[in-house]
Amino acid sequence: MAAPLSSQSPVESDAGLNTPLFQRVAVIGLGLIGGSLAAAIRQQQLAVEVVAYDREADDLRAGVALGVIDTAESSVAAAVQGADLVVVAVPVRATEAVLAEIRPALSHQAILTDVGSTKASFVAAVEAVFGQLGPRVIPGHPIAGSEKSGVHAANPELFANHKVILTPAEGVDGASFERLKSLWEGCGARVLAMSVGYHDEVLAATSHLPHLIAFSLVDTLAGEDQNMDIFRYAAGGFRDFTRIAASDPVMWHDIFLSNRDAVLRVIDHFSRDLDQLRDAIEHQDGAMLLRVFSRAKAAREHFTKMLSGQAYVTDMNQKQVTFRMQPGGSMNGDIRVPGDKSISHRSIMLGALADGVTEVRGFLEGEDSLATLQAFRDMGVTIEGPDNGHVRIHGVGIDGLQAPRGPLYLGNSGTAMRLFAGLLAAQPFDTELTGDESLSRRPMGRVADPLRAMGAVIDTAEGGRPPLKIHGSQALTGIHYEMPVASAQVKSCLLLAGLYAEGATSVTEPAPTRDHTERMLEGFGYHVHRKGATSSVSGGGRLTASEIDVPADISSAAFFLVAASIAPESDLTLRHVGMNPTRVGVINILRLMGASIEVLNEREIGGEPVADLRVRSATLRGIDIPEDQVPLAIDEFPVLFVAAACAEGETVLRGAEELRVKESDRIQVMADGLTALGVESTVTADGIVIPGGQRLGGGTVDSHGDHRIAMSFAVASLRAEGEIVVNDCANVATSFPGFVELARETGIQIAAEGE
Ligand code: S3P
Repeated sequence: MAAPLSSQSPVESDAGLNTPLFQRVAVIGLGLIGGSLAAAIRQQQLAVEVVAYDREADDLRAGVALGVIDTAESSVAAAVQGADLVVVAVPVRATEAVLAEIRPALSHQAILTDVGSTKASFVAAVEAVFGQLGPRVIPGHPIAGSEKSGVHAANPELFANHKVILTPAEGVDGASFERLKSLWEGCGARVLAMSVGYHDEVLAATSHLPHLIAFSLVDTLAGEDQNMDIFRYAAGGFRDFTRIAASDPVMWHDIFLSNRDAVLRVIDHFSRDLDQLRDAIEHQDGAMLLRVFSRAKAAREHFTKMLSGQAYVTDMNQKQVTFRMQPGGSMNGDIRVPGDKSISHRSIMLGALADGVTEVRGFLEGEDSLATLQAFRDMGVTIEGPDNGHVRIHGVGIDGLQAPRGPLYLGNSGTAMRLFAGLLAAQPFDTELTGDESLSRRPMGRVADPLRAMGAVIDTAEGGRPPLKIHGSQALTGIHYEMPVASAQVKSCLLLAGLYAEGATSVTEPAPTRDHTERMLEGFGYHVHRKGATSSVSGGGRLTASEIDVPADISSAAFFLVAASIAPESDLTLRHVGMNPTRVGVINILRLMGASIEVLNEREIGGEPVADLRVRSATLRGIDIPEDQVPLAIDEFPVLFVAAACAEGETVLRGAEELRVKESDRIQVMADGLTALGVESTVTADGIVIPGGQRLGGGTVDSHGDHRIAMSFAVASLRAEGEIVVNDCANVATSFPGFVELARETGIQIAAEGE
């Protein structure tokens, strides 16, 4: 046996930064991935010693010379001897032979893992050699690579901010799993765990198939007669699309043979879809092409956002955005806030179900309304845009929706989930509605119960919470429903279900709530009978496509109305604000408090009243908020509490228990935030009492992921005496994209960190 070589030039490291997780790590196979892992472990001091074996003695020597490993061993057995972690980093198809050499030398306590791109094949090789998968065998797959290969390209940073998938079996030793996870995290990676089968399916679709197509396309074109010309004139599209065809053929040959079944499934699926596109081109079916391309474009944009951590899907929760505000300032300017969220949701819903093409302008490009848009695409509706607020919806007719391929993910949006429940209750297919952490806590019994009374079959999770599983193909019958709470979402849900019900569906509300659904149905030619507190529709009609001009959202304008009222020397104009009488509670309340708000240029656009608002600084006074204004200002209370804290005298809110089941418990979370700034308040079951004239200090506030809480405390900074920091602000993107920029432009000294 040749004497082991020792490292001459250790990789530089921050000595003492990490306590080693392992005594001796043995890397079998010193290519790009094995070498990079060894180098990262050494650099981060995650093991006392890193040794390696590779069939190529030159690579081993290079590994030592480059400082990638401590010691080169002359056989697999010699490397594995005494190791508490063994990493198999050989081509997938060589695994079984290497495992046979590992087996006699492997300690019972050692963890055995690999870095291969297919996982079922590794498990099969382990079972073939060891008879079973022991509790310390944990297959792994770092999703990182480079077009370069070999130990010379080893890079200790290769895994930083990349994902590593571990696929532990059920009987895995938990402590071993945690140790291996910590090792990868120590190398800068984010570790995900999933089953072997799921891993191979996902990778077949997202990695293996694209490589296969790239290899195949380049090969096809290379075989064409004019191939030299084709390559000479190859445009960026060809270069971008086929970059991965330069990858290592041996490795990919191994991967396809090892992941045979999953790859075959996805090839078959893709071939069918490709044939459909071929047919569409042959038969000049432009609608089909447009549908597929716009769905794909949207999905691609969505993935890009997901990958950069901005999308509403899961990453929203992981993305941490912090607002930091310096105290003081005054508000000036002439602005238009983004489109109304409630109207944006409804424009997509009714546009999708209408006959013909609906054009929407001023659409809110926030995460909530985008979730609704994506859900309709998932149900087969072609939607172009949004492009600067312009959306074109190719309606499929009242009975034209198709079954989505999976659950409809509605992000943070309670409105979407409740309205969808009504729309989907009578479709001829099943659906599942899911949402983020906050939405998953919100009560859905308020819509599920009356829908069940109409004949819908809906399962909820415990306590009537999401996800909602809606069993399709139910015949609905109209009912009369007296709503126990004043909720536009419940009312809208039942009216939308009523479009599909036999007979009339009528809803009576205990107090007026926003009537955008009723107005927009009329705009689409669907009659809504309205008498007093009751609205009703008769099922069986059709909707006709329409044009919608979405006004600026008064709920977003509210932050600026309060900001300009409380900040000295302010004069701010807000354009094209929706002034639907069921939404103007915030203006009524602020005026009662003494605010100076001028309503200018009142007009009606597409069935909704709109106006420009000029607001100037004023001395506010505390009031008893009239209870009839509560549903008319339901989303604006967080920022009204800030106004109350700055007012002279006490403000009392009652009859607002609904605030406790919004995106957060808005009474408690606001009271806690005010406390953090040194402002006293008394929380009651259905409201709050805020003594006015208080000094707002600086401090750190937790928004609990609630967009409106975050923006309210940004406004509070105008009257604060110190810096205010608000955590967990990523969800501001659900309703108010561009808030930070607009707030800064008009006078709030705000910075967003982590965006
Ligand atoms: C909305 C209704 C309100 C409101 C929500 C939007 C709508 O909810 O808080 O932000 O678009 O119908 P409730 O109906 O639950 O009060």
